[in-house]
Amino acid sequence: MSEQNRYAVIGHPIAHSLSPFIHALFAAQTGEAITYEAIDGGGEAGGFERVLAGFWAAGGCGANVTLPFKLRALQCADEASAEARAAGAANALRRVDGRVEAHNFDGAGLVRDLAAHGCALAGARVLLLGAGGAARGALLPLALAGAERIVVANRTAQRAQQLVQELAAHLPASVQLAACALGDVPGAFDVVVNATSASLDGAAPAVPAAAFAPQALAYDMVYGKGLTPFLALAQAAGARCADGLGMLVEQAAASFAWWRGVQPDAAAARAQVQQHLAQQGVAVL
Ligand code: ATR
Repeated sequence: MSEQNRYAVIGHPIAHSLSPFIHALFAAQTGEAITYEAIDGGGEAGGFERVLAGFWAAGGCGANVTLPFKLRALQCADEASAEARAAGAANALRRVDGRVEAHNFDGAGLVRDLAAHGCALAGARVLLLGAGGAARGALLPLALAGAERIVVANRTAQRAQQLVQELAAHLPASVQLAACALGDVPGAFDVVVNATSASLDGAAPAVPAAAFAPQALAYDMVYGKGLTPFLALAQAAGARCADGLGMLVEQAAASFAWWRGVQPDAAAARAQVQQHLAQQGVAVL
């Protein structure tokens, strides 16, 4: 196989990454003859940079980057997309004529998956919970997708305010942007996105039930956890629920298209990933 076909995901830990499975599905769908491996970037200082340099030297032409290396991936790039710069992090890299380009498709993956769930963002009121890397990556794509109002709510209100202040200049002027503490969420929202890490700790961000408008979609960025405490809270408030599996598949599809110039069928792949996880006894929604 030509070296122009070598791809990988780099993270730590990486053994349970679904990305090789997803990209193998895309390769089979499209007939693109690629290899895609999972590489552990290790836990030691400088490990990620060494592993990435080795990957390029061995003929790698594109990589996904996952936790905890997304910030460092951006720093390793020669140029970066507006989304990656706004996120302060990259989840996709490619090497073109010896130069490394960085992109961040997490937010685009979220927007596409929201659309797949029948959620039109144009004119929507969006509540974004969290102020860490996951929330930062989502803010610009949500705004560019036409949200009318975006409120960032965080357990630590000051971090939400800081995030909004930092990114306000990058967002379309038409978006009404605000920040607050979780308990101070003003009004009701059409879309409530949980970009906190609370679900990983079996907790829910303490958002008021009134935050969910009738017919609201509650979206938890985590997947494989079934009905998380956040989604249970949202369901009790009458909201529709979705987990982040589709976001994972959609960001992978966007990466694949960016590398290969061919758009895979994310919906078909998502159904297969869901079946694969269910067979392994993983809680899927
Ligand atoms: P990531 O890069 O995954 O976003 P992070 O930068 O560590 O991770 O941010 C985690 C986010 O989840 C933060 O917004 C955090 O709130 P604080 O800024 O107040 O720490 C939020 N978070 C984590 N556990 C939470 C919980 N139990 N309830 C509410 N928010 C929580």
